[in-house]
Amino acid sequence: MSDERPPVTTTDAGIPAASDEYSLSVGPNGPLLLQDHYLIQKMAQFNRERVPERVVHAKGGGAHGFFEVTNDLTQYTKAAFLNKVGKRTPVFIRFSTVAGETGSPDTVRDPRGFAIKFYTEEGNYDLVGNNTPIFFIRDPQKFQDFIHSQKRHPVTNTRDNNMQWDFWTLSPESAHQVTFLFTDRGTPRTWRNMNGYGSHTFMWVNAGGEKFWVKYHFKTDQGIANFTDAEASGMVAEDPDCHMRDLFNAIERGDHPSWTLQMQIMPFGDAGRYRFNPFDLTKVWAHGDYPPITLGRMVLNRNPENYFAEVEQAAFEPANMVPGIGPSPDKMLIGRLFSYPDTHRYRIGTNYLQLPINQPSAEVHSYNKDGSMRYRHNGAQPVYAPNSFGGPQADPQLAEPGFPVSGEIVRSAYELHPEDDDFVQPRALWTNVLSETDRQHLVANLVGHLKAGVQPDLVARVVEYWRNVHPDLGDGVARGMGLSAAAARSR
Ligand code: HEM
Repeated sequence: MSDERPPVTTTDAGIPAASDEYSLSVGPNGPLLLQDHYLIQKMAQFNRERVPERVVHAKGGGAHGFFEVTNDLTQYTKAAFLNKVGKRTPVFIRFSTVAGETGSPDTVRDPRGFAIKFYTEEGNYDLVGNNTPIFFIRDPQKFQDFIHSQKRHPVTNTRDNNMQWDFWTLSPESAHQVTFLFTDRGTPRTWRNMNGYGSHTFMWVNAGGEKFWVKYHFKTDQGIANFTDAEASGMVAEDPDCHMRDLFNAIERGDHPSWTLQMQIMPFGDAGRYRFNPFDLTKVWAHGDYPPITLGRMVLNRNPENYFAEVEQAAFEPANMVPGIGPSPDKMLIGRLFSYPDTHRYRIGTNYLQLPINQPSAEVHSYNKDGSMRYRHNGAQPVYAPNSFGGPQADPQLAEPGFPVSGEIVRSAYELHPEDDDFVQPRALWTNVLSETDRQHLVANLVGHLKAGVQPDLVARVVEYWRNVHPDLGDGVARGMGLSAAAARSR
């Protein structure tokens, strides 16, 4: 408790207020007066405290920190913030769950968002990834339907496992991500104990114009730690905000979490002949094919001072790429380039990029102007280009990094590469990566989920889906559901 006198309360216009407790009335027992502007302002402002929550990834927490280059990869990219060992760039990160609303528990089974904003000298670079290297689908046309299947049922308004399994089993490309999700990695112990992935393939371009395909892997320096299904469910009741609390408290006590960034780098010419389509978001690149190379580390060392201003209003957008970094032909990535700024304009407002958490540290010299709530402006700068009055001029040297394309305009799946198959990579995960305990937990986690509201006729399709990943997995799920493997197959 401080002995200093606190400041006098004011209205939002800075006018001193006479009372924090009493409305202006005609006598102590009389009616209230319309001239009580302070009361009216409090009520009106309160009614407008919320902005719409994010349509996905609504529940989350964030922190500030820095990214430091520890290894020289300038032979692959000219991005200025990566051009020197030891260089540090401020970052803001937001972790989240996907399907739940803002008040939903932190430990439900779900991918975790891992969104990073790098405030670089060449403008903001946003890497908006997850704690999984792959995703459920590979065409943005299916994203909205996928999310609808994960959110609330239109009639019961509850989450509905039947919708989820219906969508997943009719979308076999989901098998890799769903396998990952139903291991214990689907319920991380804390945000500090999980990896982050850019997930998509991106392009890097070096100073000589040479191009590469790259993938980002942020490996947790705290080690991977997960909850079992039972522990995660227990935490829902014990502390639904445990992940947010854990990150905040760790940073408060000076225990600053960090991640090592490793890159997989593919020569530009390899893409067409790689055994998997390297732009298919449901696939990983085998580490044996493209071994991860360390680039740097990210440290989180400062909590937000205000949750709403810094976390709720944070706006990440995969379209924010700086010179030296570009998109790949990944259809999902290209869909996302449009989607995020569109949702920010709706959710936060036209000038969301002027909010302190979103504004770049690089100077802004654009010809965009005005709009709701704009306060930064370009003074007497000309408002059109070209002009003869010294306004900013674009730099043709910065032409976006391109890749050759050809073909008819079609609606089509990707052409398959030699080893492309929806089940081959999840099968490798089951066979080569998971321990015996991991496998047992995977089967039990699946069975627990299926027993919670999935219709019997759909269960047979689910068993078949898992048999495609691996017969032992399918049979394990069938047994767990009380079906003999043979019976499940013949239904
Ligand atoms: C076509 C596919 C996708 C579409 C259309 C899409 C769309 C969206 C939208 C509209 C939001 C809400 C943004 C906001 O209100 O701030 C969002 C959030 C998010 N998405 Fe996606 N998404 C897609 C795929 C993905 C993928 C593949 C990943 C990860 C690899 C991902 C990671 C995230 C994350 C981390 C957030 C939360 C960002 C934050 O913390 O503010 N999304 N997405």
